[in-house]
Amino acid sequence: MKVNANYAKLANSYLFADISRRVADFQKANPAADIIRMGIGDVTLPLCPSVIGALRQAVDEMSVKETFRGYGPEQGYSFLREAIQGYYQERGVALELDEIFVGDGGKSDISNILDLFALDNTVAVPDPVYPVYADTNVMAGRKIIYMNADETNGFLPMPGPDMKADIFYLCSPNNPTGAAYDREQLKVWVDFAASQKALILYDAAYEIFIDRPEIPRSIFEIPGARDTAIEFCSFSKTAGFTGVRCGYTIVPKNLVYDELSLNKMWSRRQTTKFNGVSYISQKAAAAVFTPAGMLQIKETIAYYKENALVIARALDELGIVFFGGYCSPYIWLKCPRGMESWDFFDFLLRGAHIVGTPGGGFGVNGKYFFRLSAFNTRENTAAAMERLKKLLA
Ligand code: MLT
Repeated sequence: MKVNANYAKLANSYLFADISRRVADFQKANPAADIIRMGIGDVTLPLCPSVIGALRQAVDEMSVKETFRGYGPEQGYSFLREAIQGYYQERGVALELDEIFVGDGGKSDISNILDLFALDNTVAVPDPVYPVYADTNVMAGRKIIYMNADETNGFLPMPGPDMKADIFYLCSPNNPTGAAYDREQLKVWVDFAASQKALILYDAAYEIFIDRPEIPRSIFEIPGARDTAIEFCSFSKTAGFTGVRCGYTIVPKNLVYDELSLNKMWSRRQTTKFNGVSYISQKAAAAVFTPAGMLQIKETIAYYKENALVIARALDELGIVFFGGYCSPYIWLKCPRGMESWDFFDFLLRGAHIVGTPGGGFGVNGKYFFRLSAFNTRENTAAAMERLKKLLA
């Protein structure tokens, strides 16, 4: 028996697992500490009433013989796929129903899609990067190149003549930096990928935070993207489903390489390796797209965005440079006093009992940066900012 030796190339533990262990150790040593968590982007507000109603109804259906459901379609129930199709249609994006695949969240689909690609592809990920894009390719043994995202390009890398890769990961609004591509920038990316016959894996997990017309919420709003991109989205941040689990992936039928259709391959992959998302979760997800559901989730998103403003105002007051926040739940700040990000993590945890995410955990370019999430409650966010001001006074 031989193990997958690529695992030895990974950091010892997944970034958020590492942070969670450090915080648990600190809490154990300081049981009275009232820790405010602004690290992992986990939501804090409950599911909206429309979703709760749909969940209850789905549970009732499962409790009687006539409406009970067993295995569902691996690609997702048509009621949810139709609702997703309608959501895109509102933005002028026409999708065929069988281009939409329901999954159990962005992280799984983004990782599992790699089954479709040869190991000798080179992948390009931004630095800093959501660790899943890089780690999953390290596990598979693919060559990774890093696209420089820093203050000089507003943390939005653009393609260049020297950028040679087969698969490009883009995330907009970005995790971890909160930066978002506008229409022109994304068009450059789409045209570049088409000219290179490369594929874009586009993570739109934070699209619901966008409220500016110049910033697209889907890459498919850009002409030509159907020929060169796969899009991933999730209900985790959109509707607070981090504990419910549901997401979706759009694989256009135009994507054909070596006479093989990625859409057909993904369908084949999913039918073989996946038995679909639970009926209950899919009913809950469909409720998000009802008029009432949309209004309710937008209220929740507005609340988190106001939290981001609370953070932004405090950082402005402290004269700390930051990025993101305007159409994202993440604020990406430059560590004060020239501190390195893991030192700032300890400083903040010990001195103010606040947990954030060290930029260094996302890549070399994050060494002097730090991510704060706006997903906590208003009270905790405001309290954390008061603590921060006191700590840095
Ligand atoms: C994050 O904090 O980066 C996200 O919550 C992680 C995720 O969505 O998997």
